[in-house]
This record gives sequence, structure tokens and C-alpha cells, in this order.
Amino acid sequence: MPETLAEAVARRRTFAIISHPDAGKTTLTEKLLLFGGAIQLAGEVKAKKDRIQTRSDWMKIERERGISVVTSVMTFEYEDTVFNLLDTPGHEDFADDTYRTLTAVDAAIMVIDAAKGIEPRTLKLFEVCRMRDIPIITFVNKMDREARDTFEIIDEVAEKLALDPVPMTWPIGQGKSFVGTYHLRDSAIRLGDSERELTKVNGPEVVAEKLPEHERQDWAEMAELAIDGYPAFSREAFLEGHMTPVYFGSALRNNGVRDLIHALSEFGPPPRAQVADVRTVEATDPKMSAFVFKIQANMDPNHRDRIAFVRVCSGELKRGMKARLSRTGKQMGLTAPQFFFASQRQLADTAYAGDVVGIPNHGALRIGDTLTDGEQLVFQGVPNFAPEILRRVRLEDAMKAKKLKEALQQMAEEGVVQLFTPEDGSPAIVGVVGALQLDVLKERLKAEYGLPVSFEMARFSICRWISAEKAADLDKFVSSHRGDIARDLDGDPVFLAQDGFSLNYESERAPEIRMIAIKEYH
Ligand code: G4P
Repeated sequence: MPETLAEAVARRRTFAIISHPDAGKTTLTEKLLLFGGAIQLAGEVKAKKDRIQTRSDWMKIERERGISVVTSVMTFEYEDTVFNLLDTPGHEDFADDTYRTLTAVDAAIMVIDAAKGIEPRTLKLFEVCRMRDIPIITFVNKMDREARDTFEIIDEVAEKLALDPVPMTWPIGQGKSFVGTYHLRDSAIRLGDSERELTKVNGPEVVAEKLPEHERQDWAEMAELAIDGYPAFSREAFLEGHMTPVYFGSALRNNGVRDLIHALSEFGPPPRAQVADVRTVEATDPKMSAFVFKIQANMDPNHRDRIAFVRVCSGELKRGMKARLSRTGKQMGLTAPQFFFASQRQLADTAYAGDVVGIPNHGALRIGDTLTDGEQLVFQGVPNFAPEILRRVRLEDAMKAKKLKEALQQMAEEGVVQLFTPEDGSPAIVGVVGALQLDVLKERLKAEYGLPVSFEMARFSICRWISAEKAADLDKFVSSHRGDIARDLDGDPVFLAQDGFSLNYESERAPEIRMIAIKEYH
């Protein structure tokens, strides 16, 4: 019997991995894909990264600085569950990209380095997840190295994140003596992920025999404490974002990874309902709807293509269907939607709610766009952050101003930079959240458009979107501050302030004007 929409939706899990750089996100991703059968040998994720990097100049930045800039999606299947893993850039200069990606997931795995605990970037990303009520599964990685005391790590999760952590497994040893994990709920052990099944055991004392003699007594006592000392796991509390199941392991040594896959399929949420301007859209609603959370250019330099990554929110996205783009009201044919696997892409004949597909296009799609099969609705919540750095772009060859304008417009549509056009006719200003984004812009303008540029300080350092209850108030403010007003890509007005002092001064003088630092795409 063909699968119903409800069945297809129920077996989908769309998630991201959040962590501080170096905690092991790449290694874990690799291993998840390995167990999901998406790659044959661990190492392909990195190998693939290298291959892509050699293709395009700007990606050199990634290679040189050893950071991951590119967000991508990887789809894999494991024991009947379809996983869409959305990768997020680890570096904070690309935080806006990461936050937008988190709007497209239903759950997250938080990776913690067992020796370091909760690090700043983990905390920040966790806060974004909390704002969006995204349930979190905790993975304490690198147990094969010297680690902190296990109780201490769990306490830190409770204290720093104000979450109820519930250990689901308990590490058997740590550092050199780490051999695997004891499953507290099942009274079973798994010594390595190559074992699909857990091995049942008669209590902690038996498990302790796996350890060197001098560690046994302590370990058995601690395991008893772990069993009794924490609340029972409640799926409801987890889905509401109050509780996190905690797993231990070593991604490098293939330990604990399979538990995460199981946890996601067993407890993880199926695709959530998404809030749009006119209504909330349930995933099982048969009418197709989707939104764009990421645009990536030049994934294949032979085709100079631009891929819009869309999260399907309801119904089925079918290859060849006509979709309505809410921003323009225009129809667009979805002729070649694609799934991304670890080492290849494949045409997607049908994608269901929860799935993430890439749609090749030549600039028709922008970040935040909504696609439907006819209904006029716009999904809310894809954030646009006020840039922290504002610059004017200086061309080496002034004759190419028109080309530069087009290039900047394209980059802004992709979300690489934000572009602001001053009302007084002065040259455009670009804004970024992190300095590395400027480097990416510079590299790409040179490599892809043949436009060598440099950046000049702008007179402004802060930018806020402005609006008012009454249109007349806004018009008045705009006309009396002409030299400090610019329009963003959507034509929405922003106020450019020299510094925090002048921002405060102006906002106190014009209380009828709302000045906001985060705009939602509309
Ligand atoms: P990231 O994406 O979060 O930045 O981390 P990544 O997976 O690249 O891991 C960072 C470093 O930590 C890598 O070492 C990786 O091999 C190591 N690592 C990841 N998981 C584990 C683990 O479970 N145990 C141990 N002992 N190490 C782990 P590297 O030397 O920086 O890079 P590489 O040359 O080994 O790739």
C-alpha cells in the first residue's frame, strides 16, 4: 500500500547539531551519516569538503582558516526513519546563517566536549533553540579523553541552561579506560556502535568488570546513584524543551552515536506545525507549503547555479509542480528539486513535510520566501539581524559601478551581506554580522564577478529597521533624517546611527518610531 502523507510525515526527523567549534560536530556528522548508510567510510564529509573547497576561490577562506562556512543539508535513512540533518557554520561570524537554519529544524543535538563542558557558542546557540522551543538531545563527546566528572557535567547542563538533564546512558570508564556506555533505563551495555543491539546485563556490578579493578567499586556506586538520582525521562517535557536526555560517547571511536539516532527517532518530534501570517500550518495539511531559509551559490561552478534550500512545511512537494511565490504572487515551476546526500545530489520526485530540498534557480528565490500550491500565506520567524559592521564598497575600477550594483544585489539576496541604499543617493552600504563575511564578499566579488574591491569605513556603525504606527510619523522621520536613512533589499527603511549615543538620542526624541534590531523576512 502506498504511504499516506500522515505516515510519511510521522517518520521524518529534521535536526541540526549545535556546538562550540572543536567539540566534534564534523566527526559526529560523519558518523551519523556512516551509520545511516549515507556514506561508506567515515572521512567522506571532510574529503567532500576539501573537494568543494578547491572548486571555488572564496571557499579558500574556509580551508585556510579551518572553519566551516557552508551550511548544507544531508538526508539519510535509518531503520525506516528519514533524517534531514542541517549543517550550521560553527564560526560566530556566520551566526545569522546558523540562526536562520535553526528556523528550519524540529530538534537539535547539542554536542559538549567532556573536558570543557558548556562553552560560549554552545550556550548562545542553545538560547536560540530555547526561543524557538526546539527540543535538545545532549551528547557528551570525547569520553575517550580525560573528562570532567560525569555528575559535574550533568550539573552544569542543569545550571547553565536551566534544563532538566536526564542521563540515559552512563559512560563505562573515561579516558584510556573508556569502553562504552551503560544504558540506565534498559540495564544494558553497548561497547561500540558496530553492535546494533544492546547487550542486557544484570546490574552495574557486572558492567564494572569491564573496567580496571581499582575503578570498579567507585563506578558501580556512581551508576547506582545515576539510576536513582535523576527524574524519569518524560518525552512530553523533552518536546516542550524543559528536559534533555543526556548521552555519552566518543564520536571518533564510534561510541554512543547509534544511541543518538535511536533517541531522535524514538523521542524526537515529527515535523512541527509552522506559523504563517494567516494561519498555523500543520505538517499533515495536504496543501504544499515551504519556505526558503538558505541560498547557496556556485555549488557547481560549471552551472553557476544558485540553490535555494527550502523546508517543506506541509503536504508534498512534487517535481514538476507549479508553486506560488508569496512575495511576488508569481507562479514558478519546480522542475528540479533535489535531495542532498553525503556525496551526491539526486532529483527529488516527492518531498514530504519536514524534508529539506534544494531548488535551483537564477535569482527568483530569496531567503524568507514562502512557496505554496496556491494559497497566499507567508511563514513567519526567519530572522534578519541588524548588521554589526557597516562599510562602503570601493571599486578599483570605477567604470564597473553598474556591475558592482548587480553583484551586491545578488549577494544580498543570497544572504551573504545586507545591502542598504541611502535615501540621499550616496553609494550603497553593505552590512555584515561578522567580519569574516566581508572577506567572503571580497573574495567572491573578485573570483565570480571580476571585481576587485576594498572596504571603507562608513560614517555609521549601527543600523535599525524603523516603523511607526502611523505612516505619517514614519514619513516625517524619514524626511527629517534623510542623510541617515537607507532602504534594505525589500525597500524597508533603516535608520543609520553613528554610534550608540546618537541612536539613543534619536529614539528618545522620536518615541513614535519603533527601531528594531531583528527583522523577520516577510
Ligand atoms: P567541530 O566540527 O565541532 O569543530 O569538531 P571536529 O569534529 O572537527 O573535531 C575537532 C577535533 O576533535 C578533531 O581533531 C577530531 O578528530 C577530535 N574529536 C572529535 N570527536 C572526538 C572524540 O570523540 N574523541 C577524541 N579523542 N577526539 C575527537 P583534530 O586533531 O583537530 O582534527 P583531525 O585532524 O583529527 O581531523
